[in-house]
Amino acid sequence: MAEVLRFGFIGAGEIALRTAEAVSQAPRARLVAVTDADPRLAQGLAEAHGAEAVDTADDLVARADVDAVYIAVPHFLHSVMVQTAARAGKHILLEKPTGTSAAESERCLRAARDAGVTLSVPFIYRYTEAWRRVRELAADAVLGDMQCLRSVLWADKPATYWQGGYTGRSQSDWRGRALQAGGGVLIMNAVHDIDAMRWSTGLEAERVYAEHGTFAAPVEVEDLAAVTIRYHGGAIGVIEVAAHAPGGAGPLGSGGHRWIGTQGQAALADGHLWVYAAQAVAGIPAGRWTELELDRPGDPRTLCVDDFARAVLAGERPPIPEDAGLEAMKVISAAYQSQRFGRPVRTDEVFQRVVMAPRTTIG
Ligand SMILES: NC(=O)c1ccc[n+]([C@@H]2O[C@H](COP(=O)([O-])OP(=O)(O)OC[C@H]3O[C@@H](n4cnc5c(N)ncnc54)[C@H](O)[C@@H]3O)[C@@H](O)[C@H]2O)c1
Repeated sequence: MAEVLRFGFIGAGEIALRTAEAVSQAPRARLVAVTDADPRLAQGLAEAHGAEAVDTADDLVARADVDAVYIAVPHFLHSVMVQTAARAGKHILLEKPTGTSAAESERCLRAARDAGVTLSVPFIYRYTEAWRRVRELAADAVLGDMQCLRSVLWADKPATYWQGGYTGRSQSDWRGRALQAGGGVLIMNAVHDIDAMRWSTGLEAERVYAEHGTFAAPVEVEDLAAVTIRYHGGAIGVIEVAAHAPGGAGPLGSGGHRWIGTQGQAALADGHLWVYAAQAVAGIPAGRWTELELDRPGDPRTLCVDDFARAVLAGERPPIPEDAGLEAMKVISAAYQSQRFGRPVRTDEVFQRVVMAPRTTIG
């Protein structure tokens, strides 16, 4: 069995820079080739990591020394690149979201399954100790039956974000274009929360109601959204996400997450995890809020890349299963359709029509 998984990168923009660093830190991964529509970005990233820059994605997947690709391009190109990589027999680590709609997400899944290659998404919340502990608390029934999950993401992004992300590394307006991004803060940011809410509790979304709007940015996609999810079994999920909340979340830290069960609550903000349990359990006293001590096992992105490499090298199913991206996208597509139709949308309805996120003008 090979000891190292050799990666080719399709996309050398903002997040690829961080993932390349993660690959360089991961014991079981190595970067060997990079391509980008902007050859200077591919060249710079390749040079920094002792890899080679290549002209196109087709050239990259044709290389025998590439075992797996990491795809981090604008959302509308994700399913195309997945199909290119799958046809060439390469394993795939695909950045979120897995396309611009649930239908595209399903195409990614089908392409990987038909080709017999591994597909996974770096949903890195899963590699943070806080989310892992909440998952244990939920699995061990410390919180009781789940009543409500809540995610608040109030960011104060710079106005320049829509043209170049946080760093300006790659200049393009794709983030603000409905057809290229598929939507705004929901598909771009809340997708992580939607996956992590599902993973931490095992709850599957049944129907979704959403309102969103474009309040502060001159873009086609939403910069603020409020989403309500009804899970199978009855629990309710609430997501609030905003790109331009002046001052960000302020006293709430970088936002916050809550799990409200029949026997207790968990609250996570700024990497601190607090628990309230009605009955004393495993080191948690009854009847008062207690902050849990968290181990810091390492950088979540590095852990995620290394775990993906371990599974591929061992011929195992990826730790973040191939359908995780699709399950998150079903909620997102349902949310966009909900706003469009002005009613709740079931997650099993979303394949009937493909609806791009419409712009909602306020005032
Ligand atoms: N997991 C995370 O925390 C996280 C964070 C940021 C972004 N992302 C995701 O990563 C992806 C990329 O985001 P980003 O912020 O790096 O964007 P970016 O615009 O900085 O980078 C995208 C890169 O793709 C390149 N590109 C465009 N068309 C191409 C083509 N046909 N072939 C090769 N390269 C092409 C661009 O030149 C650019 O360098 C998106 O899906 C985004 O949602 C994930």
